[in-house]
Amino acid sequence: MTDENRPSTDPYKGVRDFYPEDMAIQRYLFDTWAVTAESFGFERYDASVLEPAELYRSKAAENEEIVNEQTYTFIDKGDREVTLRPEMTPTVARMVAGRRRELPLPLRWYSIPNLFRYERAQRGRLREHWQLNADIFGTTDQNADVEIIHLAASIFTAFGATAADFEIKINNRAALTRSIEPLLRPGARLNDMLKLLDMKPKMELERYREEEMKLLTEPFETHSEVPSEVASVLAALAALGVHNAVYEPTIVRGFNYYTGTIFEIFDTNPENRRSLLGGGRYDNLTALFGGEPVPAVGFGMGDVTMRDFLETHDLLKSIPEKLKPGPRVTVVNDGAATVEDAARVAALVRDRGVNVSSNLSDKKLGDQLKLAERSGATFALIIAGDTKMELKRLSDRSITRGELAELIPHMQ
Ligand code: HAM
Repeated sequence: MTDENRPSTDPYKGVRDFYPEDMAIQRYLFDTWAVTAESFGFERYDASVLEPAELYRSKAAENEEIVNEQTYTFIDKGDREVTLRPEMTPTVARMVAGRRRELPLPLRWYSIPNLFRYERAQRGRLREHWQLNADIFGTTDQNADVEIIHLAASIFTAFGATAADFEIKINNRAALTRSIEPLLRPGARLNDMLKLLDMKPKMELERYREEEMKLLTEPFETHSEVPSEVASVLAALAALGVHNAVYEPTIVRGFNYYTGTIFEIFDTNPENRRSLLGGGRYDNLTALFGGEPVPAVGFGMGDVTMRDFLETHDLLKSIPEKLKPGPRVTVVNDGAATVEDAARVAALVRDRGVNVSSNLSDKKLGDQLKLAERSGATFALIIAGDTKMELKRLSDRSITRGELAELIPHMQ
């Protein structure tokens, strides 16, 4: 192969390779997500990354950036149009609608799917990301909205964040519609105004006002009173000890399927300004599949922004030992002991529930110890001719001597 046509070792643009040290962090994220979601009684589900393209072509999706510009869509060999899912919500709505009659509503479901969006790759935005999705199906009760936001906040505290590190911004689609509709100029569309409002924090005020006056007969007062639906959610959250939630009239959310409460969570550190989590109530999406709609509320929380958040707040110190790369113990052989002896001893250690590797080729003890250290092992178990062994902690080189049974408890 010539130099020019050799494949690159770089991954495809906008996606990531997970070398073991990145995978350790990723597993920590996923484990914390799963454990916290399950602590609220959520059950895990999953689905394929491939969906028929028509799933994203509904009337409700008309006008949406994600659907129109950001999907990976291709034609398969059977002439079917296929999309790599850009979000999980249409998929879970499809699954719930498919078994609407058998499922015991209300449902609390979660998943950690990888999603694909053809985005301009930048900090906090990639072409493949993973997202914790947690949704409650089957109730219009506001308590479900509160429960979902409570779970979202609890995930942050599970990572060691404090309430001062993040802010929950809440709005309501119905309230937005109610207050904007009477102001619309004839022929102006509510969706265009929602889009503009969404852009407001990123625009110069003058520009915003100019655009706004093309759509409305008078300015939409974003400093108006807290809508009653939002006030009651805020009060219920406060009663549960969640005090870092506020009303934010410019929170709109980019999907047209939202119908009620909508929310996003932001880092309070301005260095990390992308939304960490977004969600809301969507009571009609399952109607897409026919029949009575199943009301729902939920959120998606991305791994890319979460990792940025944890790094910004120095919260990656608490990764559990078992998720770190490398074995706990490496068995190395010295003197009369052979590579085969090392494998045999490693098997005994493994049987006692310790993650262990063993030396694989004839090398001097010093070289084996160096390799053990580089592999990330915490201990080297040095076996020699007799039954006595040495357990060496590689960080401080401290040594414990004894028989295998005596050493095992030191390895845990
Ligand atoms: P979303 O706002 O598009 O909502 O995404 C939710 C979160 O996923 C964002 O706040 C961000 O953390 C992360 N995210 C989104 N796009 C990217 C990207 N290109 N790169 C990295 N991270 C990204 C939804 O997807 C809704 N389906 C969520 C939902 C679930 N609503 C109700 N249930």
